[in-house]
Amino acid sequence: MKKEMILVLDFGGQYNQLIARCVRECNVYAEVHPYTMTLNEIISMEPKGIIFTGGPNSVYEESSPHYDPAILDLGIPVLGICYGSQLMAYMAGGKVSTAPVSEYGRTSVCVDTSSRLLHGIDAVTDVWMSHTDYIEEVPEGFVITAHSNVCPVAAMEDSGRKLYATQFHPEVTHTREGRKILSNFVYTICNCSGDWKMDSFVEEKIAQIREKVGDGKALCALSGGVDSSVAAVLMSKAIGKNLTCVFVDHGLLRKDEGDQVEAIFGPSGDYDLNFIRVNAADRFYEKLSGITEPEKKRKIIGEEFIRVFEEEAKKIGKVDFLVQGTIYPDVIESGLGKSAVIKSHHNVGGLPDCVDFTEIIEPLRMLFKDEVRRAGKKLGLPDHLTMRQPFPGPGLGVRIVGEVTAEKVRIVQEADAIFREEIDKAELVQRPGQYFAALSDMRSVGVMGDFRTYDYAVVLRAVNTTDFMTAECCDIPFEVQQTCMRRIIGEVKGVNRVMFDLTSKPPGTIELE
Ligand code: XMP
Repeated sequence: MKKEMILVLDFGGQYNQLIARCVRECNVYAEVHPYTMTLNEIISMEPKGIIFTGGPNSVYEESSPHYDPAILDLGIPVLGICYGSQLMAYMAGGKVSTAPVSEYGRTSVCVDTSSRLLHGIDAVTDVWMSHTDYIEEVPEGFVITAHSNVCPVAAMEDSGRKLYATQFHPEVTHTREGRKILSNFVYTICNCSGDWKMDSFVEEKIAQIREKVGDGKALCALSGGVDSSVAAVLMSKAIGKNLTCVFVDHGLLRKDEGDQVEAIFGPSGDYDLNFIRVNAADRFYEKLSGITEPEKKRKIIGEEFIRVFEEEAKKIGKVDFLVQGTIYPDVIESGLGKSAVIKSHHNVGGLPDCVDFTEIIEPLRMLFKDEVRRAGKKLGLPDHLTMRQPFPGPGLGVRIVGEVTAEKVRIVQEADAIFREEIDKAELVQRPGQYFAALSDMRSVGVMGDFRTYDYAVVLRAVNTTDFMTAECCDIPFEVQQTCMRRIIGEVKGVNRVMFDLTSKPPGTIELE
């Protein structure tokens, strides 16, 4: 049976992924595609509904992204959001112009709750606005279903043609009843039944992999991160011993992490797979010796990782499939071709073509991160693995400012373990999105007992972030900071100062290098 799908047509909005995620939270599958996709491609996908995203442009400028107006007459329900709402108005013959007053942030709107889109919403509700243009006149056949003090058309619709639009963003949490609005769209208007469930995804994926791989052999680079771990377990459930996982321990993992990965995936773990752990710390430290420039360090770690993996793969010989833990945001981002290189990211995702394989298999290709975590849970992976915070491919290599040495790795591992333990103990109302200890390149004078010390300064970093593209420093209670400081200086040899990094991103980045 064909799966239901909502197509999110991306016009460059910053919340494009969020829209798809919200739809999926309603148990309806959604895919994001660029607005350059043709009408025939859309028709062939048979979506149950289409959502036009927001975007930074003005519809009346010729260079702005537009779409063939025939999309409005396919009989498929369409919901336009922000720029998408203006585009719908423009395409259907309405008038869009620069608003006399721009609206940014939380706004109160009056709602016509007899609308199928806005059914069950409070008559006056808070929504998130972010626009300088507005719909001045709705197209023929449309009626206004919401307005604010300064925005005459906060929502409009032509229910006969199943066309709906909101100037505000239902997908952001600041729109109090946004989820309900999206749910109304997918269920009441698009008639979806809600067949996107993690249980069935896992079962179907295992069956698909089994069929595809047959008796073939697959090779997986396992980093211990969420994506590669879930990909490995999914594969192992499907093909058992025909899967070989290579885990390269580059000596830049967090404290005890290598052993934890081995405990789960190794011979005494729960999975029936061939597990190879390569302890390559010395090789990495040697290559990094004397290197201080961050990009150089990243490149060296990335390249060495590939060399080690390649050597192991050669021992195994030809395999049929190379497994990669690519997830949906990577697919969307590469599809749109946007990438501003601040740091050259290294994941085990980008593996060598020098490994002898016939095909790549990406079992998590269509999942968002939270869905990958849920799939991992369903597959029985422990929480400390599925709920793990992000950890960069180059590991502690980018959390040690300047030259990496075994001694500095030990220091940062110990300090980081203490910091994480104390944050867990503190049971904060809101746990930071990412938190860790790093090591500065600074040494300074202190006094311990009656002795002079000349030791390193540990940097603690805790940020709140949802998208990891922007971040704010997290307010860790002072007593927790004090406990961390006391414990780190007392328990970690080589440290006599602890600092807390207050920088947001931008201008900082989350990692120090
Ligand atoms: P930055 O430091 O760029 O980090 O603000 C943003 C997020 O990305 C993670 N990060 C990486 N993840 N490979 C990865 O897989 C990398 O090379 C890498 N560098 C940074 C970082 O931990 C944060 O979550």
